[in-house]
Amino acid sequence: MLNDIGSVIPGLTRDPRSAGEPPWIAGQARNDRVGFLKIEGLSKSFVPGKPVFADVSFALDKGEFVCIIGHSGCGKTTILNVLAGLDTASSGHVFMDGREVTEPGLERGVVFQSHALMPWLTVRKNIAFAVESRWPDWPRAQVNEHVERFVAMVGLSPAIDKKPSQLSGGMKQRVGIARAFAIQPKMLLLDEPFGALDALTRGTIQDELMAIVRQTRQTVFMITHDVDEAILLADRILLMSNGTEHAGGYTPGGIAEVVVNTLARDRTRAGLHHLPGYYELRNHIVDFLVTRAHAGTLKNLSGATP
Ligand SMILES: Nc1ncnc2c1ncn2[C@@H]1O[C@H](COP(=O)(O)OP(=O)(O)O)[C@@H](O)[C@H]1O
Ligand SMILES: [Mg+2]
Repeated sequence: MLNDIGSVIPGLTRDPRSAGEPPWIAGQARNDRVGFLKIEGLSKSFVPGKPVFADVSFALDKGEFVCIIGHSGCGKTTILNVLAGLDTASSGHVFMDGREVTEPGLERGVVFQSHALMPWLTVRKNIAFAVESRWPDWPRAQVNEHVERFVAMVGLSPAIDKKPSQLSGGMKQRVGIARAFAIQPKMLLLDEPFGALDALTRGTIQDELMAIVRQTRQTVFMITHDVDEAILLADRILLMSNGTEHAGGYTPGGIAEVVVNTLARDRTRAGLHHLPGYYELRNHIVDFLVTRAHAGTLKNLSGATP
C-alpha cells in the first residue's frame, strides 16, 4: 500500500549494512562508504534492569536528514545527548566519521529543546563565543562578519545587540539555531528546536532550515513530535516505541520502524498536502503513535479482554 510513497521496514532495529560485524569494524573500515554517523546497540538504564531503550542501532549517511519521532519519555533526548557526547549510554557505541564519540565536540552542533543561551551576553556575543572556540585564530573582524551573516540568516539582525531577556521565546530559539549553524558542524543535532515557537514563526524557520540544509548538504538528526514537520524535513523517519510494562514483564523502548520518505525532496510546506501519497504516509505514522508505540501494553490489554 505504501509502495508509491515510501518503503516501510517493520522491526528494523539494526542497520543491515553492519549486521554481524562488531562496531569497531563498522566504525573504521566502513567510514568512507556508508554510515557517516553510526549508532550500534545503544541502551540506557536509569533504573537497573529496566532500560528506557535497548538495542538501538541506526546509521546516517552524509547529507542525510533523519527525524526521530515518538511519545514523550521514550528516550529521544537521551539518544541525542549520547550522540552529542553529553551523556553516556549504558551499552553500545556511537561513531562519527570513524571516531567514537565520547565527549562534546565542535564538529557537532546542538540545538536544545530550550535555548541554552548565556543570559549575560548579547546575541552577537553568544554566537561569537562559539565561533571563537571553533576558529581561535580568526581576527575579530572576521568573527563579527561571520556572526552577522548567521544572525541575518535567522532574521535577527535588528536584535543582534540585545540580551536574551529582551527577546521572545521564539527569538531565543532562533539564536540557538544560528549558533549551531555558525560553527558549521559536520553534524547538526536538533532536539525539538521549534517546539516553543508559534505556528507562524515555526513555519518560517522550517523553510529557512530546509533551504540552508539543502544548500550546504548538512547532515541532520532531529527530534520532533510533529508528524508534518518530520514529513516535510526528513529523508527517513525513525519511529520509536516507549518502554512498556505488560503481563509478560517489561519491554524496553527502541526503534520500531524506519520509514523512508520518498516524497519529492523539493517539497514545500504549502504544497505538502497536495503530493500523492502524503496522507498515507501521515496516517501510517499517526497510526504508529496511536496504536503501536506502546505495543506491549496494547497486547496485554487486548489479551486481558476476552
Ligand atoms: N537523569 C535522569 N535520571 C533518571 N531518569 C531519567 C534521566 N533522564 C531521563 N530520564 C528518564 O528517561 C526517560 C527518557 O527521557 P528522555 O530521553 O528525556 O525522553 P524524550 O526526550 O523521548 O521525552 C524518561 O522516562 C525520563 O524520565
Ligand atoms: Mg525530549
